[in-house]
Amino acid sequence: MKLRAVRGTHDLYGDDIEKYNLIKKIVSQNAKIKSFNQIETPIFEFTELFSKPLGAQSDVVLKEMYTFKDRNDDLLTLRPEYTTPMIRSAITNSMLNNLPLKIYSMGPIFRRERPQKGRFRQFNQINFEILGTKDFLADLELIVVANKIINLILPNVDIKLNLNSLGSKNNLIQFKKILSKYFIKNKKKLSKESVDKIETNPIRILDSKQEDDIEVSKSAPSIIEFISKEDLLHFEEIKNGLKTFNINFEENHRLVRGLDYYCNTVFEFKTDKLGSQDTLLGGGRYDGLVKTLGGPDTDGIGWAAGVERIMMLMDNITSHKENIHIAISNEKFKNHFINITKYLDEHNISYYWNYKYNLKKSLSKANLDKIKYVIIIGYDEFEKNYFTIKNLISGEQFKLEINDIKNFLNDKS
Ligand code: HAM
Repeated sequence: MKLRAVRGTHDLYGDDIEKYNLIKKIVSQNAKIKSFNQIETPIFEFTELFSKPLGAQSDVVLKEMYTFKDRNDDLLTLRPEYTTPMIRSAITNSMLNNLPLKIYSMGPIFRRERPQKGRFRQFNQINFEILGTKDFLADLELIVVANKIINLILPNVDIKLNLNSLGSKNNLIQFKKILSKYFIKNKKKLSKESVDKIETNPIRILDSKQEDDIEVSKSAPSIIEFISKEDLLHFEEIKNGLKTFNINFEENHRLVRGLDYYCNTVFEFKTDKLGSQDTLLGGGRYDGLVKTLGGPDTDGIGWAAGVERIMMLMDNITSHKENIHIAISNEKFKNHFINITKYLDEHNISYYWNYKYNLKKSLSKANLDKIKYVIIIGYDEFEKNYFTIKNLISGEQFKLEINDIKNFLNDKS
């Protein structure tokens, strides 16, 4: 068997791991500022946690879940999203006694999709949720946090916020019927995939990327005309709030989401820099979901962002190599080397040692890595119990006693 990674999976290393860690840092800093608590759930759950809430007719449930039987015949699934496991955790750990609950997480998600640019089978999501309020300020707070995080990570990328309201669950059921009728009338003009969705999931035809479907959708009934006055007011308040925050948005009445649990506000942050996988972040309201999962009747709203898609738009981070290299000319000087590493460890000074007893090789490696200082241990240093520190940029060399090294580095930094 040829050794290879599974299709649609990828390793994180080098520049990518630097980007990943930077994202993680920005996310946790902003979560803290906004009082969201971190919660990390197991990577697999009982399959039934996902099958109904995400929608029996959704692509995720129909064809993308990694599901397997455990030895005792339990049906388990690698999490294809975070929202339902986070709510499961909030219910089973009695977190819903103290509402509103503001939680976030960041970790791997699994979907068996056809891999392409920006689409993986294992990828990472950042996920923010607020449970326990219908207030439009929660919708606003979440979009503001999303906007801040995206702007901090991608300050120079043009990203557009798309916004829509689906109205209540009941409204959505009625609207789907109206939409089905419209698409049946226009069946001949639709793509085969969309024809298959007319009865089961007609709102997904609205976000089809096929030219023919887009043309038909342009004249389809618009959901905003069917939503109640109360829901419309909720939507207006969010839009006014966004204007106050100077967050630009585009009202897009064809914006629907791929999972079934949404109602009222839905939103996506999109870019034209990633080809067809253009959504960096998506989310919305899911009042009723907590109850469906067996919890109390609790409203909720949240979003998730694709970490890999964000990483693809980040500038390369030059990894900070501020550590010091150590170069030894002979194995006999190991004890002198141990003294210096003990000293550096005690003073939290980072260093790199390449296990080579060859000055030339060690110095050329340090030059290659663009390291500023090398501590050199040669015969004279060993005999007379001192250390030479060489500045590779200026070429200067200094003879130092061990206890002077920290002050020397502080003075030079
Ligand atoms: P979603 O739209 O399915 O929503 O996924 C959110 C984000 O995850 C997408 O916008 C995209 O950036 C990223 N993503 C999705 N699939 C892939 C893939 N195959 N490869 C790479 N990135 C991908 C949810 O998952 C909802 N749970 C969001 C939410 C939270 N709604 C309320 N709370």
